[in-house]
Amino acid sequence: MTEERIIRPAKNVLGNLRLPGDKSISHRYGMLAAFAKGTSRFTNFSTGADCASTLKCMEALGAQVRRREDGLVEVTGVGGRVRPPASPLDCGNSGSTMRMISGLLAPQEGRFTLVGDESLSRRPMERIRRPMAEMGARLTLTDGHAPLMIEGGALKAIDYTMPVPSAQVKSCILLAGLQTAGVTTVREAVRTRDHSELALRAFGAKVERTLDSVSIEGPQRLHAIEAAVPGDISSAAFFLCAAALFPGSKLVVGEVGLNPTRATLLDVLTTLGVRVSVLNLEEKNAELVGTVQVTSPAEGLGRAEISGALAAQLIDELPVLAAIGPYTRGGIRIRDARELRVKESDRIALVANNLRAMGAEVAEFEDGLDVPGGQKLHGAAINSGGDHRIAMAFSVAALCAEGETVIQGAESAAISFPEFFELLDLMAER
Ligand code: S3P
Repeated sequence: MTEERIIRPAKNVLGNLRLPGDKSISHRYGMLAAFAKGTSRFTNFSTGADCASTLKCMEALGAQVRRREDGLVEVTGVGGRVRPPASPLDCGNSGSTMRMISGLLAPQEGRFTLVGDESLSRRPMERIRRPMAEMGARLTLTDGHAPLMIEGGALKAIDYTMPVPSAQVKSCILLAGLQTAGVTTVREAVRTRDHSELALRAFGAKVERTLDSVSIEGPQRLHAIEAAVPGDISSAAFFLCAAALFPGSKLVVGEVGLNPTRATLLDVLTTLGVRVSVLNLEEKNAELVGTVQVTSPAEGLGRAEISGALAAQLIDELPVLAAIGPYTRGGIRIRDARELRVKESDRIALVANNLRAMGAEVAEFEDGLDVPGGQKLHGAAINSGGDHRIAMAFSVAALCAEGETVIQGAESAAISFPEFFELLDLMAER
C-alpha cells in the first residue's frame, strides 16, 4: 500500500526545530557499539527505518539492543566476535547497512547472506566486492547485486584507491581493516563523509589520516561509548531549503551535525543569497554540532552551480536543491553527480520527471540537471518512486506551487525521517 500526502502552498516558513539523530552517524554508532565490548548508550539516535535495519541485523548477529521509552538506545556488543545467524540478514532499503556490514563480516568466521528490498537489490555491490576480493574475502553477488553471500575468514591488509567517491565503500574497507593484521589504507580523491573515521576513534580505535587517505592497523578492539547523536543535517536540508524559498522566512535548527564533510549545503545557500548564521558550535565525540539560523533575502534566490567535489559532498541534498531551482532567479546547475542514478532510485530521472509534471522546464544529463530559474510551478501528482528524498524534496517544491500537490509513496519519508510531514505542517505558515 502506498500512502498519498497532499501538500498545500505556504505563505512562509518560520520556527525553531530540533531534528532526530543523523542517519549516517547512527548507522556507525549502532554497528560499532554492537561489535564492541560493553554496553553503549545513545540519545537522539535516528528514528528512521534504515538505522532500525542496522540494529536488527546486529541483533541477529548476537548484539543486544534496547530502545528505552525515553528514547535512549542501549546496545550491548558482541566483543569482536559475531554469531552467524540462522537466516539471511535483511538490510531493508539501506545501502549503508549492506555495504558497511559486509566489511564487518568478511573477516569473521561463518557464512552470511545479506538481502534487501527491491530498490536495494538493484543497487551496485561490485564496488564493495572488488576491494573485499583484494583483501582475500569470499564475497559473492547475484548479477552484481544483492543477495550477497559472504564466507568469512582471515583477510590481508590492502592499499586501495577508490574509483568512485563513496563513504559506504570506504567504511566497508575500514571495518574489514579493523580486524585484519597489517595496515589497510583507503585513498580517495574527494574527501567523502568521515563519520566512520571519527566514530572508530570514539570507540577507541587508532585511525591515521592524511589529506586524501585513511589508514587503520588491525587487529584492534573497540570499547563501548555514551553519545548524543547530532541532528541530521540532510533532514534539516528540506527545512532550510523550504525557508530559503520565502523572503522574510526565519528558521532556527538546533543541535544539528555540522561536520565539514556534510555541511556544504550551508555554502550553497549562502551563494544563493540566504543569510546563514551558525551559533553555539561545539564538538561531541569529534563531530561538530551547532545551531543554524537562516533568513531568506527580500530579492529572492540567485543561482548556483554544483560540480566536481561539491557534487559528491552534497549528494544527498541535490534532489531538494534541484527541486527549488525553478524558484531561484538564476537556476541551479548540477554536474558530476552520476551517482544520483544509483541511489534508492534514479534520482536524476525522477527529479526531472516530477519537475516537468509541475510544469517546469528542465534539462537532464547523464550526470546532472539544468534547472532554469524564474519559473512558476503548479501542483501535480508526484511519483516518489518509493524514495524518501524524492518524496521530501517535492513536498518542499509544493510549498511555492499554485494549487495542491499529491506526494505518492509518501510513507517512504520514514526511511530517514518519519517526523517529516508533521514538522512540515508545523513550520509552514498557511
Ligand atoms: C552514506 C554515504 C552516501 C550517501 C548515503 C549515506 C553513508 O552514499 O548517499 O545516503 O552513510 O556513508 P555513498 O557512499 O554511496 O556515496
